[in-house]
Amino acid sequence: MSILITGAAGFIGANLVARCLSRGNNVLAIDNLSRGTLDNLRAYQADARFTFAELDLNNLSALKSSIGSYHAKDPIKVVWHLAANSDIPAGIADAGVDLRDTFLTTFNTLEVMKQLSIPSLAFASSSAVYGDFGNQVLTEDLGPLFPISNYGAMKLASEALISAAVEDYLPQAFIFRFPNVIGLPATHGVILDFIHKLQSNSQRLAVLGDGTQQKSYLHVEELLDAMFFITEHAKDPLNYFNIGADDGGITVKEIAELVVARVASQAQINYGQGNKGWVGDVPKFTYSIEKLRSLGWQPKLHSNQAVQKAVDQIATAILGA
Ligand SMILES: NC(=O)c1ccc[n+]([C@@H]2O[C@H](COP(=O)([O-])OP(=O)(O)OC[C@H]3O[C@@H](n4cnc5c(N)ncnc54)[C@H](O)[C@@H]3O)[C@@H](O)[C@H]2O)c1
Repeated sequence: MSILITGAAGFIGANLVARCLSRGNNVLAIDNLSRGTLDNLRAYQADARFTFAELDLNNLSALKSSIGSYHAKDPIKVVWHLAANSDIPAGIADAGVDLRDTFLTTFNTLEVMKQLSIPSLAFASSSAVYGDFGNQVLTEDLGPLFPISNYGAMKLASEALISAAVEDYLPQAFIFRFPNVIGLPATHGVILDFIHKLQSNSQRLAVLGDGTQQKSYLHVEELLDAMFFITEHAKDPLNYFNIGADDGGITVKEIAELVVARVASQAQINYGQGNKGWVGDVPKFTYSIEKLRSLGWQPKLHSNQAVQKAVDQIATAILGA
């Protein structure tokens, strides 16, 4: 079976490519390399079942022609749409970033799927679609939803577009609302950011916000386990699930302490003001994963265990043992 992965050269995309190849699928991987790198895909370049196309999903005619010619030889059965802007502050500074890379990439992916009658879409959504519900536990049917970042707004708009496609021409879709996902090859995120800061100054770690931000963290290997479990067990035309750790999350203060202990134990941690790291940062969210648990899947790692594992992996990859 052939699978198309957009955003394949990014952090989660590269892990998904590896998983799909190991499951015996052919993979067409698309990325414009704005954030992902070919290095993330180097291990698969020699695999005859792997094809990479450097393409911007905003170029609809190039997209139609590239996917169309692949599909004519080897029909694509599923699209995993992961391409998006992954830098929330960049999308606050320029709303056009999320319009193009988070929303229009979904619009164009659906256009191509419609034209080629590709029957299934798996979409990387986010906790950011919920906005800020404070201490309220987030269940999938909560609403109305008012995201507080352009990124969250464009993810929610993408979900809406997928819903309309399912009503019209798309036989099946899976919407995965990711938590904070961590592991290798890290392209962004709080752990990478802290390690880079400590590389340039091993005496001091400046944290954005007061460190009380508290969120669910999941290791990328468990994220992939959950997504494949859902695609194999959820049978509705439109399936939507929170995916996260089974706990209240971990604070930024705890993450900073874990990174400092691993990378530069002498460093002093300096906290900023307020409980938001940046405009559009949701300071706290607690996922209900009851729907996923009812389907039959449960994460093995708590948020703090996932963070500890990722800190070790990323520090080793960047700094050595
Ligand atoms: N990592 C997380 O914690 C997290 C949390 C919630 C949701 N997500 C979602 O998961 C998906 C993957 O995230 P990631 O962490 O791997 O991010 P990433 O930045 O590593 O990967 C995204 C990839 O999309 C590519 N891309 C962006 N715009 C594109 C365009 N116009 N055309 C073609 N390629 C384009 C980038 O080059 C990059 O390789 C994204 O949709 C992201 O919003 C991630």
